[in-house]
Amino acid sequence: MSEQYLNKRRLVLFVDDDPELRKLGRVSLERAGYGYIGASNGSEGLRLARELYPNLILLDYMMPGISGKEVFVTLATSDDERLRQTPVVMLTAKHDNHDEQRELLGLGMAAYLCKPFGHHELLNVIDNVLITAQIKERNRTLEVEARQSFVGTVRAMITLLAVKDGYTGEHSNMTADLAETLARRLNLSEEEIMHVKLGGLLHDIGKIGIPECILCKPACLTPEEMAIMRQHVHYGEQALAGVPHMETVRAIVKHHHEWWNGGGYPDGLKETEIPLATRIVTVADAYDSMTSDRPYRRRLSQATTIERLRAAAGIQFDPVVVEILVECLEDYDTEQTRSLNLKFLDHLHHAA
Ligand SMILES: [Fe+2]
Repeated sequence: MSEQYLNKRRLVLFVDDDPELRKLGRVSLERAGYGYIGASNGSEGLRLARELYPNLILLDYMMPGISGKEVFVTLATSDDERLRQTPVVMLTAKHDNHDEQRELLGLGMAAYLCKPFGHHELLNVIDNVLITAQIKERNRTLEVEARQSFVGTVRAMITLLAVKDGYTGEHSNMTADLAETLARRLNLSEEEIMHVKLGGLLHDIGKIGIPECILCKPACLTPEEMAIMRQHVHYGEQALAGVPHMETVRAIVKHHHEWWNGGGYPDGLKETEIPLATRIVTVADAYDSMTSDRPYRRRLSQATTIERLRAAAGIQFDPVVVEILVECLEDYDTEQTRSLNLKFLDHLHHAA
């Protein structure tokens, strides 16, 4: 099985102060087709690990000078990701401290091998550890690709919306940034903050399905046109229906026009029936909308907007979120918003 997975010559660094054991290890490894490099102490082992980036390190637990544990912790906490990812097999004697060995497994040590060990035992452990490392690496690559693909899709959707309706594209960016600021002030987790931000970016994505004569009408909508416009929450929700792990974002898209008192649409949810992430985006959406020029009205000043939001707190908006918004506006810089949102997508792109 090992040849199928380990089809390249792999370099193993053997760090042990016992020259006889290193010699036996060298013979075993080279016969099995591995490259071998030996180190007689922890300092030399660390130096060679940094210079050569071996595929695996066999590390004696008890050594004079820097111990195996210190070497492992240095590697596991290194700034160099390749060193952090290098699998380490600790070589221990029966009398060594087993609690400490368990602690090292918890810190990411790949395995430990009890001395004395035989040729086959050594090779089995090495093969298994390298196969596991290869699978982990493949998983990391797939995760990065999935994240890049997702970010590309979000970019494409926002670009489409911006082509159709320049205002909504820009408004989505502004809403996302303000919603993120509110979510941080409300101490949401990083994952929740990411969902709030994505919800802000995508909340009006369903407007792609609304006719331009309604979407860009330079006057108030008739009741019939308003009924059509309201469909955007369903179009958006349906667009995200097949995307996994997007439940929070879908709820934002579907419910961002619900009112705190139950007077909104589409489901007439009220108060905490509306998820907090959605209530945050609703307030951010309203703020940015009121402070922007629209075809049918001029923008409102910040002071007038705050006055109106406060007047609608407890009716249309979550009163706590409105007050958090007022606090945040003191240090919120709208001029930086657009570049920040581009950075957010870049951050998602590189975070994986
Ligand atoms: Fe909307």
